[in-house]
Amino acid sequence: MKPVKVGLLGLGTVGGGTFNVLRRNAEEIARRAGRGIEVSHAAARDYDPGGLPGIEQVTVSDDAFAVVDDPAVDIVVELIGGYEPARELVLKAIANGKHVVTANKALIATHGNEIFAAAQRQGVMVAFEAAVAGGIPIIKALREGLSANRIRWIAGIINGTGNFILTEMRDKGREFADVLAEAQRLGYAEADPTFDVEGIDAAHKLAILGSLAFGIPLQFDKVYTEGISHITREDVGYAGELGYRIKHLGITRRSGAGVELRVHPTLIPQRRLIANVDGVMNAVLVNADAVGPTLYYGAGAGAEPTASAVVADLVDVARTLTADPENRVPHLAFQPDALSDLEILPMEAVETAYYLRLCARDQPGVMAEITRILGDAGISIEAILQKEPQEGEQAVTVILLTRAVREGQMDAAIRGIESLDSIDGTVTRIRVEHLAS
Ligand code: HSE
Repeated sequence: MKPVKVGLLGLGTVGGGTFNVLRRNAEEIARRAGRGIEVSHAAARDYDPGGLPGIEQVTVSDDAFAVVDDPAVDIVVELIGGYEPARELVLKAIANGKHVVTANKALIATHGNEIFAAAQRQGVMVAFEAAVAGGIPIIKALREGLSANRIRWIAGIINGTGNFILTEMRDKGREFADVLAEAQRLGYAEADPTFDVEGIDAAHKLAILGSLAFGIPLQFDKVYTEGISHITREDVGYAGELGYRIKHLGITRRSGAGVELRVHPTLIPQRRLIANVDGVMNAVLVNADAVGPTLYYGAGAGAEPTASAVVADLVDVARTLTADPENRVPHLAFQPDALSDLEILPMEAVETAYYLRLCARDQPGVMAEITRILGDAGISIEAILQKEPQEGEQAVTVILLTRAVREGQMDAAIRGIESLDSIDGTVTRIRVEHLAS
């Protein structure tokens, strides 16, 4: 059978990795797909041909539209990233009747509803395994492996750069900026690294996971997003003293009232497997009614781990090229006409436990005032840690762990604590999740 022809948009970290994996494993990939898969046309502005053996047999230009308009191309692989021109290119490829594989989480999270509707009209596939958690086949697991289940919640470490930074801060006491620069050098970080450290990249991925888990349209704009740039080495240390680790989690949960979609630093008990996922590695913990908890672990970023997911999508598309479009796996796991309009809960309605760090004057009665405010707000304290004042200092650091409470109640209590004369500055709040099954 004739090989499937691929048009590759982008020959950067992931594009280069995809080209190399397709070439290196060509024989095994063909045995799996039932036919060869070959890059015939690529678009890239800058690339290093030295790192891409065999690229001289491919037509390469800087014109991405020439690739999506090339009649010889069966599948367009979009690895440019960003919103535009990626959106325009993908919609053009679909309009030209081509299948699309993309690693672009920003594109799927924000324009996925439009893209999937266009693909459905044209009877083509849009595959996006590499968009979430790099090389971990979490989309396949959710869409296919867990399709018997009612999913309860998902909690994931879904940004490798952020996890790398938190791990290095904890283990080596390194500075935030220094670790981020290393992640950029290694090709883990986004083009704009604030997407990694401010949680936007994780929020893109979480929006996708929430849709796949609960059969709701993509709603990136409703994800509560908080980054890790305000986490201090002290917080990492205090969390450790209390038996927790700080991880930057994406959490989506279905309750009677609606669906939670939130990304924020989170204390989790250090005995949990997911608390021990370090460095650039990602992990996604899925709690579902029939199977219980399942944990998916692997490299969340990097050239070949991400290429592994891109090429797996290419194999999937190649296998089903001749299948009836109605009999393919739906883009968002649920049939497009069976998506639900479950409400996305505002953060004030979400219930979690909390770690609070505050700076209190070293004088009698301060602790009583703090605990009275929390008690009046119906917030129960689980642990208190008070640090001795530094030499010559009048203030002490107090750490409190609370039981679960609605965020709105905690907001009011924090405002009350911050208004006390005996409290200096603001209260640091980090949410706590026990992730028990
Ligand atoms: N910047 C992302 C990360 C790359 O660090 O996880 C993979 O999406």
